[in-house]
Amino acid sequence: MPDNQQLSEIISRIENRQSQVAVIGLGYVGLPLATEFANAGFKVCGLDISKEKVDSINAGENYIADVPDELLAELVQKGSLKATTDFSSLANYDAISICVPTPLSKTGDPDLSYILQALSEVKKYLRKGHIVVLESTTYPGTTEEVLQPELEESGLKAGEDFFLGFSPERIDPGNEIYGTHNTPKVIGGVTPNCTKIASLLYSQVIGKVVPVKSSRAAEMVKLLENTFRSINIGMVNELAIMCDLLKVDVWEVIDAAATKPFGYMPFYPGPGLGGHCIPIDPSYLSWKLRTLNYRARFIDMAVDINRGMPAYVVQKVANALNDHSKCVNGAQILVLGVSYKKDIDDIRESPALDIIKLLRQKGAVVNYYDPYIPQFSYDGIEMKSVELTSETVGEQDCTLIVTNHSSVDYNWVLENTKLIVDTRNALRNATENLDRIVKI
Ligand SMILES: NC(=O)c1ccc[n+]([C@@H]2O[C@H](COP(=O)([O-])OP(=O)(O)OC[C@H]3O[C@@H](n4cnc5c(N)ncnc54)[C@H](O)[C@@H]3O)[C@@H](O)[C@H]2O)c1
Repeated sequence: MPDNQQLSEIISRIENRQSQVAVIGLGYVGLPLATEFANAGFKVCGLDISKEKVDSINAGENYIADVPDELLAELVQKGSLKATTDFSSLANYDAISICVPTPLSKTGDPDLSYILQALSEVKKYLRKGHIVVLESTTYPGTTEEVLQPELEESGLKAGEDFFLGFSPERIDPGNEIYGTHNTPKVIGGVTPNCTKIASLLYSQVIGKVVPVKSSRAAEMVKLLENTFRSINIGMVNELAIMCDLLKVDVWEVIDAAATKPFGYMPFYPGPGLGGHCIPIDPSYLSWKLRTLNYRARFIDMAVDINRGMPAYVVQKVANALNDHSKCVNGAQILVLGVSYKKDIDDIRESPALDIIKLLRQKGAVVNYYDPYIPQFSYDGIEMKSVELTSETVGEQDCTLIVTNHSSVDYNWVLENTKLIVDTRNALRNATENLDRIVKI
């Protein structure tokens, strides 16, 4: 146990905002968190391996849409927020939040290499009183089984000399109502003191902190949330396929079901899952369960259905073109929206990428329009967004709505196009030219 004096000193430093906070990984999760701590009066340093990001922050230039530009510039100017690629500065900070990527490897297994790389730096500079919180989404057990032994190799003990916990990041990029500050934060430490200290730190900047009994439980909370979404989206994607076979409008069915005031919440079909979380996180859980000889059947089934959606959409386009006596080979196709969801600039795991690849493999001439993604490269494909004009739209054999950004006038697109495949029900209010629309 840490002695009472040591604990009360740490508590008072946190409460007086004298604790200095380091955030490792300055992406969609880390930068909003660093800004939140700095805005609450803590001295914050962001650490990243990307010199470009570090330079940008130090110049007061923001690159994450959810962070207000003026706030970032002001915090940097005041000296409350700075960034560095030099990890030796970790020694000067009291708390370290780790927000690095946790992708899947090529074989679909968890790739903890970014966490391990960050951890090797933390370990070098670990000292008594340090608070280390992992925020990267990962499988239950990572904090206890991977971080704790690694950090304890320093000779310091978690819960006694330093405090270690897991707190899942729940940020929803582009959400204008819920950001870092007002989304409750779940925290679980590897010991009760770790939970207590990490919760106290985060409660300085987050409206509501929800402590749980262990880091393992906190890790599982995040996977429950995202597995819940993946499975429900998989279920509703399959429902869309079933409704198509039954010649029923799935969107009408969902809207009608959503009028039930209890026991139902609507999920919507789409072209497939995207983003850094929902397509990946459930696989962290099923991988961990496989090591325990258990097959997570719901997860596997949802992953199968969701991963099959881009091919399903391409088949829909092929059928729609066929009904217009056209084949995919040589057809001009305009993809509207390539980010993984509307009104954001993130294309990670976006189903649009697979859809474009599949259409090109079938010989289609594909262009795209996305106001948030001026260009992208993916799997050997390099593309630039075209302008959305009546000429561009009019030239197409088919327009395919993959992401329904709010800034696009879909009824205008419909007026100007011959055929439109709508995977998002963006044309729900269309009253004319209905024969041009194919929905999933
Ligand atoms: N983006 C989201 O919506 C979201 C939501 C909830 C949870 N998460 C989870 O949060 C974690 C981070 O995701 P993100 O979206 O912020 O990723 P990101 O790719 O936007 O940012 C990660 C940052 O970490 C940096 N980095 C990589 N290795 C590093 C290292 N060894 N040391 C220092 N910096 C390093 C990268 O350069 C990058 O700037 C992931 O585990 C993700 O699953 C993401």
